Amino acid sequence: MKRILVTGAVGQIGSELTMTLRDRYGADNVVASGRKTPPSAALRDSGPFEWVDCTDPAPVAEVVGRYRIDVIYHLAAILSAVGEAKPSLAWNVNINGLYHVLEIAREHHCAVFVPSSIGAFGLSTPLDNTPQDTIQRPNTMYGVTKVAGELLCDYYCKRFGVDIRGVRFPGIISNVTPPGGGTTDYAVEIFYEAIKHQRYTCYLKEGTYLDMMYMPDALKAAIDLMEADASRLVHRNAFNVTAMSFAPEHVFAEIKRHIPELTMDFQVDPVRQAIAESWPNKMDDSCARQEWGWSPEYDLPRMTADMLAVLGARHRRGEL
Ligand code: SER
Repeated sequence: MKRILVTGAVGQIGSELTMTLRDRYGADNVVASGRKTPPSAALRDSGPFEWVDCTDPAPVAEVVGRYRIDVIYHLAAILSAVGEAKPSLAWNVNINGLYHVLEIAREHHCAVFVPSSIGAFGLSTPLDNTPQDTIQRPNTMYGVTKVAGELLCDYYCKRFGVDIRGVRFPGIISNVTPPGGGTTDYAVEIFYEAIKHQRYTCYLKEGTYLDMMYMPDALKAAIDLMEADASRLVHRNAFNVTAMSFAPEHVFAEIKRHIPELTMDFQVDPVRQAIAESWPNKMDDSCARQEWGWSPEYDLPRMTADMLAVLGARHRRGEL
């Protein structure tokens, strides 16, 4: 059985990926790690947890050696809006942290999953049906770190034979751990506000299309890619993956079908609006579909129904 390390295990994706990996590979085989104490008892108590920070490589290497780790899901990263507020932090975590993890993977012969993002594109990219291989000149620090990270992963694959794989995630919508400081966070916040207050003030303008994905599909993408037959992979890293593309008024209208009293107004944040306008409206993910069978299960109506059912139940239990 493979032994797995998840970095950033307390974050939006990591907290759910860790639990899914523990179900699949056995709880003791999945080591969660991060800088913060896990807020959920399930994450804390269901398997090993190690307090390490990827910007400090020695403790990470010690954990990889001690648990004889085979696969690292490297999720520790700073998101786009925080990256604009704190560019040097974004560089340190997203680039130096990644470099340390790749070096440790090389030395310990680990496979690595590394997420890139829609943030790896910029205004000179074709923003409709964005191809897998295209112009990448992002104008955010987050995007700069994501493009450099994609290149670094390709380099470690070719130069050192490290089995690194990854996807370009769109905005991820989830109901367990909130995202921290991204541009796509509105599409999560609107669900919480719809349940709690039946109104939402959106920081992106109407008509701002972005790719999105429900968390179960994001987890499936990461695991399916890591389990894919390597001989079928032409790209390996930074596969475009998407499940839906919408603008704020579309998710609002879909939630309103379930909560008719919901209202939405706008208070545009120029920083996040500019970031969103520089990202694809809709990516072409046909390479992921062809090379490893990517196929999402949730579209906007199905995701909305599930989000509202889960968050509604948590609200009734007084958890929100
Ligand atoms: N969800 C991320 C962000 O908004 C994009 O990868 O920063």
